[in-house]
Formats: sequence, structure tokens, C-alpha cells
Amino acid sequence: TPHILTTVAEIRAVLAGPERVGLVPTMGYLHEGHATLIRQARAECDVVVVSVFVNPRQFGQGEDLGRYPRDLERDLALAGAAGADLLFHPDVAAMYPDGYATNVSVGGVSAPLEGQSRPGHFDGVATVVLKLLNIVGPERAYFGEKDWQQLAVVRRMVRDLNVPVEVVGVPTIREASGLALSSRNSYLTPEQQARAVVLSRALRAVQAAAAGGERDTARLRQAGLDVLAREPEVQPDYLAVVGGDMQERERVENDPMTRVLVAARMFGVRLIDNMPLWPE
Ligand code: PAJ
Repeated sequence: TPHILTTVAEIRAVLAGPERVGLVPTMGYLHEGHATLIRQARAECDVVVVSVFVNPRQFGQGEDLGRYPRDLERDLALAGAAGADLLFHPDVAAMYPDGYATNVSVGGVSAPLEGQSRPGHFDGVATVVLKLLNIVGPERAYFGEKDWQQLAVVRRMVRDLNVPVEVVGVPTIREASGLALSSRNSYLTPEQQARAVVLSRALRAVQAAAAGGERDTARLRQAGLDVLAREPEVQPDYLAVVGGDMQERERVENDPMTRVLVAARMFGVRLIDNMPLWPE
């Protein structure tokens, strides 16, 4: 099992050598999606660090910070089995000590979609990710495509601030049903999880419409919304077809960065998912 380190000084001391370090930032309650990131880091790096930190700054008022699921024992076992060497698990005071006053705010790609629905969320993400990168100093850092806009925000920040790290994006891991794995799925009963498959079905409907020749963004969007409308428990937040800049155009382009993203509330839980418009 990996060693648990809880202070910045400890982890800096352990990682002082010349090894190639890979970092997998997480908020814990690890699942097979996280494990996939860790395994890829294991294959590409000498030392694999998994951070487990439920970052209060990325949760808004009325969001699920207070009930976010936690199980450090399980995380340790899962991270170890996937190949992690070290687990960095700071407490809130270690990351944001008294007097903490700095915020990282990425413009552009942060503004629409999740940025509009969750004001301040991506500031919280960018701030904690930059701190983790500065603390661990990895050669590579691994992020899931599950959070496509987050990946874009991190890539933008790393470029804009000349952070010396290679950001690696990893495809989304799904249940056999199509449901994207998420720590937040634990808020749902198995029956509710079965109903939540509607999100991935809506994304596939948009892919199918594109494959059938539809290029009009509004019509593509409607193909997805029609699927969502058949499930009464879904309260859609957005369904959008965007380019790599997170902006919608009137007509879609046939390029690998074009992506269809969905966010919806189901059974009191906010779920997100996305797929490439053009699967390979
Ligand atoms: P968390 O939701 O724990 O996710 C940690 C990483 O695992 C993220 O990069 C996320 O995209 C990836 N991930 C989650 N579910 C996945 C799935 N089904 N398939 C592939 N990858 C998946 O994202 C966060 O934490 C936080 O915002 C964080 C980046 C740690 C900053 O606090």
C-alpha cells in the first residue's frame, strides 16, 4: 500500500530526487475511472503520486461539499492496487492556512457551460490544481476526459502560466450500461443509476445524428434533448455541441475537438457527461 503524506514539507522531501513523477489529482472516493488514470501514470512515470483532497474552494453555496463521499482506507487500497506509490492527503488548513488570499482565475474556456452554472467553480479547480502542481512538481499530470471542460481549463492555465508539466487526458471509463463512472454516482440507488443512463444515451443520439449527416448545431442539440425529455426525472441544465474553445457555432465542424456535453439534475444529484461528436 502507498505511503500517506499529509504535509507539504514531507512530500517535497520525498520527491526531491531525479525520478520522473506522475501526479493524479483526485477528491477521493476512488473508482475504476481514477484507477485508469493511476495505471497510465504507473506505466509512464517512476513515482506515482495520487492526491486526495476534497477542495472546498471549488464547491458553491448549496452544493454537496458537506456530504461529498469519503473513504480513505478504500482509496488507499484502490490506489495501491492501481500502482500508486504515494498518497498526498493534506487537510484544509495545510492547503489554505490562515490568511490565504490568492485565487487563480482562467478566462475564456472557464466561462460557459459549467462555468455559467457553477460560478467560481473553475477558479477553485485552477487554484488547487496549480497548488498541487507546485507542491508535487510532476513531469506529467493526469486528468479524465469525463470532466472535459476542466481538462481544457487546466491545459489553458498550464500554457498561460508556463507550468512545466505535461497534461495528459484520459478517456472516460463507463459502466457496461454507458453510465460514466463518478464518485457522485454513490448518491444514487442502483435503480436511479440505471435511469441515469439517459445522459449517455442522449450523447449517443447526438453522435448518431451527426453520423447521419446533420451539421446544424441546434438540430443536433435537439436530438439529444428529445432523448432527455422522455425521462421525466431529468432536469436538463445544458446540452451543447462545442469546439475546443468551449464555444458553440451555428454549424459543427468535422474535427476531433468537437464535443457534445450534457449536465442535468436527476434525483437531486447534478451529473455531467460528454463524448466526442465524431467517435473514432
Ligand atoms: P475527481 O472528481 O475526484 O476526479 C479526479 C480525476 O479523475 C479527474 O481528472 C476526473 O476527470 C477523473 N475521472 C473521474 N471520473 C472519471 C471517469 N469515469 N473516467 C475517467 N476519468 C475520470 O476532478 C476532480 O476530482 C477535481 O476537480 C480535481 C481535479 C481533483 C481538483 O480538485
